[in-house]
Amino acid sequence: MKPPLPPSTSSVLRKTRPSPYFYTFLTFTVFVLILYCEDLLSIFYRNELVPIKPIPETGKEKETKLTSKLPFVLREPEETGKKEETESTSKLPFVTGEPEETGKKKETKSTSKLPFTIGETEEGCDIFSGRWVRDELTRPLYEESECPYIQPQLTCQEHGRPDKEYQKWRWQPHGCDLPRFNATLMLESLRGKRMMFVGDSLNRGQYVSMVCLLHRILPPNAKSLESSIDQSLTVFRAKDYNATIEFNWAPFLLESNSDNAIVHRVDDRMVKKGSINKHGKNWKGVDVLVFNTYLWWMTGRKMKFLKGKGSFKDEKKDIEELTTEDAYRVAMKSMLKWVRKNMDRNKTRVFFTSMSPLHIKSQEWGGEPGGNCYNETTLIEVPNYWGSENKNIMQVIAEEFDKSKFPITFLNITQLSSYRKDAHTSIYKKQWSPLTPEQLANPVSYADCVHWCLPGLQDTWNELLFTKLFYPS
Ligand SMILES: *[C@@H]1O[C@H](CO)[C@@H](O)[C@H](O)[C@H]1NC(C)=O
Ligand SMILES: *[C@@H]1O[C@H](CO)[C@@H](O)[C@H](O)[C@H]1NC(C)=O
Ligand SMILES: *[C@@H]1O[C@H](CO)[C@@H](O)[C@H](O)[C@H]1NC(C)=O
Ligand SMILES: *[C@@H]1O[C@H](CO)[C@@H](O)[C@H](O)[C@H]1NC(C)=O
Ligand SMILES: *[C@@H]1O[C@H](CO)[C@@H](O)[C@H](O)[C@H]1NC(C)=O
Repeated sequence: MKPPLPPSTSSVLRKTRPSPYFYTFLTFTVFVLILYCEDLLSIFYRNELVPIKPIPETGKEKETKLTSKLPFVLREPEETGKKEETESTSKLPFVTGEPEETGKKKETKSTSKLPFTIGETEEGCDIFSGRWVRDELTRPLYEESECPYIQPQLTCQEHGRPDKEYQKWRWQPHGCDLPRFNATLMLESLRGKRMMFVGDSLNRGQYVSMVCLLHRILPPNAKSLESSIDQSLTVFRAKDYNATIEFNWAPFLLESNSDNAIVHRVDDRMVKKGSINKHGKNWKGVDVLVFNTYLWWMTGRKMKFLKGKGSFKDEKKDIEELTTEDAYRVAMKSMLKWVRKNMDRNKTRVFFTSMSPLHIKSQEWGGEPGGNCYNETTLIEVPNYWGSENKNIMQVIAEEFDKSKFPITFLNITQLSSYRKDAHTSIYKKQWSPLTPEQLANPVSYADCVHWCLPGLQDTWNELLFTKLFYPS
């Protein structure tokens, strides 16, 4: 930890450097570019490495998976399917206390047990509250070279990262120890089942981490990874287990004009009201759902919602503008409503991963102005360090989950990831386009301080998911 610059020093610096606003602008621009390019890149990578086939049909929604290429279809009527709104009068058989406190306890929680439970976490232990411990014996959980599924935007060693320090940290909760990640147990529990990650490129990172953690115990011909033609769905199959681990690109969860997994629109993002079924169709029949959504809402402007039956392409659109928090709340409500209508709380589980933090401005942790995660190899040691992540969003999540009748398991990874300025891919990734001499001369200008190297931090997110799946209370 470098101490903050004393005021005198920083004013001297300011005289000889561009204004701090310049850096803010620069980092924001880089951030947007990275977001934009990331998924494009991973698409091209998959084209090279992975046989692209339509996903073999696993059930009903064939037409939605393979023909929904056209991003702008008329809104479908709100789901009218079977209602299983589990009236809270029926005493809920399993369900028990569950995520820490995303709020006050629900009346049903104390008497029942969640599906997949095999044990309990030590009483009163909040697994998200803890510290990073250096552990060269048990970390990393796998080697980068052992996992062929990592997209080249995340293979930091292959792209020249000189150190491996970021791979050697283990998360140690204050109140208990995390169970060891057991791939056999995970796959046994998913026998004949589907697990799906739904969200943006950060959730894709967690998805890939999960695949890397599981694939090791499977012989070469007992597994496969395939993507749909439009790249919106990726499926890892553990054949002998008849289990799938899937990813669905849905950066806003709701339908948006950024839904094309290959070409996202970024400058004028727009989301459609009441459109959760657009992606929700892909989630039906899934046994373990893991959602995330955050970065795409952070435009720094009001969020545009398309209303009515119009399409994003229409010349004349009925648009409503909402603050970031209100817009995010709309998405949370839609997601929860979908879950209540479509998931069976006796058999399935729903997780939600909180905001993945950025390290695009070193002044936030007392570094030199103009820096970011580039060249960072140490952790932030300020207790409860918090960067620029939107705390109101955390509040919105907590409030909405607290009201949910379906128990949502919250993966509160924001704080613990905030310490990890060392764990981003930085400049050690496949670049979208050749770097200019100006960029090469100034690596900070193209460092990716959004995404994370694998193996690395996101393996910990999955250890926490593992813990919450089997030892939820
Ligand atoms: C998330 O975890 C951090 C660290 O333990 C804690 O301070 C924060 O209150 C938690 N947030 C929620 C919404 O549970
Ligand atoms: C992992 O889980 C399997 C299946 O439940 C069990 O047989 C095995 O003993 C576990 N391994 C470890 C190291 O706990
Ligand atoms: C395989 O799993 C799917 C659910 O993903 C299930 O519908 C199907 O019946 C299973 N097949 C066998 C042979 O167990
Ligand atoms: C869950 O199981 C209980 C019996 O164990 C049953 O009474 C209840 O209706 C089930 N709920 C759903 C949504 O299937
Ligand atoms: C990277 O950091 C080290 C130590 O913090 C420093 O000595 C070195 O000059 C930095 N390198 C660059 C290229 O900024």
